[in-house]
Formats: sequence, C-alpha cells, structure tokens
Amino acid sequence: MKKIAVFTSGGDSPGMNACIRAVVRTSVFNDIEVFGIRYGYNGMISGDITPMKSNSVSNIVQRGGTILKSARSKEFMTAEGRKKAYENLKAHGIEGLVAIGGDGTFTGANIFFEEYGIPTIGAPGTIDNDLYGTDNTIGFDTAVNTALDAIDKIRDTADSHDRVFFIEVMGRDSGYIAIQSGIGGGAELVMVPETQTTVDTVMDTLQTGWNRFKTSAIVVVAEGDNEGGAVAVAEKVKAKFQNKDIRVANLGHVQRGGAPSAQDRILASRLGVAAVEGLLNGRKNQMAGIVCNKLKYTDFKEAISKDKPLNPDLLRIVDILSV
Ligand code: F6P
Repeated sequence: MKKIAVFTSGGDSPGMNACIRAVVRTSVFNDIEVFGIRYGYNGMISGDITPMKSNSVSNIVQRGGTILKSARSKEFMTAEGRKKAYENLKAHGIEGLVAIGGDGTFTGANIFFEEYGIPTIGAPGTIDNDLYGTDNTIGFDTAVNTALDAIDKIRDTADSHDRVFFIEVMGRDSGYIAIQSGIGGGAELVMVPETQTTVDTVMDTLQTGWNRFKTSAIVVVAEGDNEGGAVAVAEKVKAKFQNKDIRVANLGHVQRGGAPSAQDRILASRLGVAAVEGLLNGRKNQMAGIVCNKLKYTDFKEAISKDKPLNPDLLRIVDILSV
C-alpha cells in the first residue's frame, strides 16, 4: 500500500486532530503518501481531497474540532454517491482509508468495502463512548471533564439558592457522559437511557435528601433518557414540589469542543498510529481500540452491532454516595 487517505466523519470530538496528526506522521514515517479528505464522505463524493505532509499537521495536537471538517453524509447512503466516492479515490490512486468517527462512519465503510474493495481501518472518535471494542472513544474523557466543570459551577449557585438543578448532558443512546460526570460531580441521581428511572424515583430521591437536611440537589440527565430529557423531568417534578426552586441547564454542544485532555491526546495518537500500521499489515474493516491498556482490532461489524453496557457498579455507586 503506497497511498492512503484520512477523514473525520459524524459528530466531531476533541482529539480528532491529534488522531489526524498521528495518521499523517505515521504515513510519512513509513514513506507512504497520505491525503486528507475534507467533510467526511461528502468530500469523498465531491473530490475534496488534498495531499498532506508532516507540516500539514503541525500545531494541531492540542486543538479541538477537526481540521478536516466533518459531516453526516446522506449522499454516501446512496449507491450513486458511493460510486462517485470510489471514482475520486481511484483517480488519486488511494488504496486504503483511515476513518475517524463513530458507528455511522464504520457502517458506511463496511458497505463501501463490500462494493468496491477499498479497506478501511477506523479510529473511534465520538464523545458518546458507545462503541464496542475500546474502553474509551476519542473525545469522551474531554467531554466528561467539560461537563464536570459546568456541574461544579452549577453546584455553587445551586447551593447558594437551595435549588434543585436538572442538568442535561449529551448521549442520545448512551449514558457514559452522564454517569461519569454525575459521579465526579457528586450528583444525587443520574438518569441514563440504559436503565429506566421513573419520575417517582426522582421525587423519592429528592425527598430523601431534604429529609436528611440537604438543601440543594443535582440530577444529571442524559439527553436520551426514557423520561424525555431534563426539561420534561423537571416539569413533572415541579408540578409535585411547587414550593421548591427548580432549574434546568442543558450543557449542549460545549461538550463537543475544547482542547482535548491528556488522555484523549494520547489515546488519539495511539489509535492513529495503529490505524495506519493496521492498513500496512493488511488489516481491513476493523476498528483500532484500546482495551485494558492494550491495542485491539475489532471487526466493524462487531464494533457497531455489539452493545457496550454501562458498568452497573457505577450506577450503584451513585446511589450509595448520594445518601
Ligand atoms: O454523537 C455525538 C453527539 O454529540 C450525541 O451525543 C448527540 O446526540 C449528537 O451528537 C448531536 O448531534 P448534532 O451535532 O448533529 O446536533
């Protein structure tokens, strides 16, 4: 393999740049040509493909976002779109791809290989940490720290005013950010999509706290929680506890930006190197991940179809510590 390309796709995550840098530098180190594709699969289709050199990735290891831009491509879901993408790759002589993204990205790469035989190695880049085959995804640790910083600040004002705060964090289908930032931020309760927490349980937990002379409370709610998110839960709780001061804060997309943490930079660097080395060693359609501090390649099919359940012990710990 002499020519490869790298792209970022789906929701961006802090550390994607560190991973792009690792892919480019590992390619240069191994004397292979590397191209950057902008805007994910959309750029593959439109031909937004440029050669990258060692200095194309100088001074980005510490930057959030992605210098290659990102997109969720509808066109790549069509056979016509993938044909155009293949023709553009062929025109550049690109023989292998490194995809930095999440499950949608790897689903696309799998179909593309079946149709056109271009191998892809993936690096898991998403703040959601919802991919099987790696303990952490690139960006997750930073997102948790960002959420935690906000929760700490909200706790100050919640305490001053004796308020209950429902804080919504990202995670459409996954409660990883919620559970970790909830434990780190000392939340009274964490609501995640993986388990059912009823509004009655929320009210019981709050009441127990007041009975124990707690004056303020923090409930962290993952956006994909079954009760409909922080606003919906807060409305129902307000109806019952009319004399309590209840507020909602939605942390939103701040969780997706910012300088990557040390952990994310290191993870991204390891996985970027592993992705290129994987391609050079003849691997295809696998995601590079780190499990128990060891590099592991997992077939895309497994990475996107298998669940990565939340550690139930973490949920138990929230209950114990909020007493
Ligand atoms: O997949 C990452 C993620 O940040 C999810 O947590 C969130 O549900 C979604 O992306 C938001 O997507 P968008 O940026 O398109 O609003």
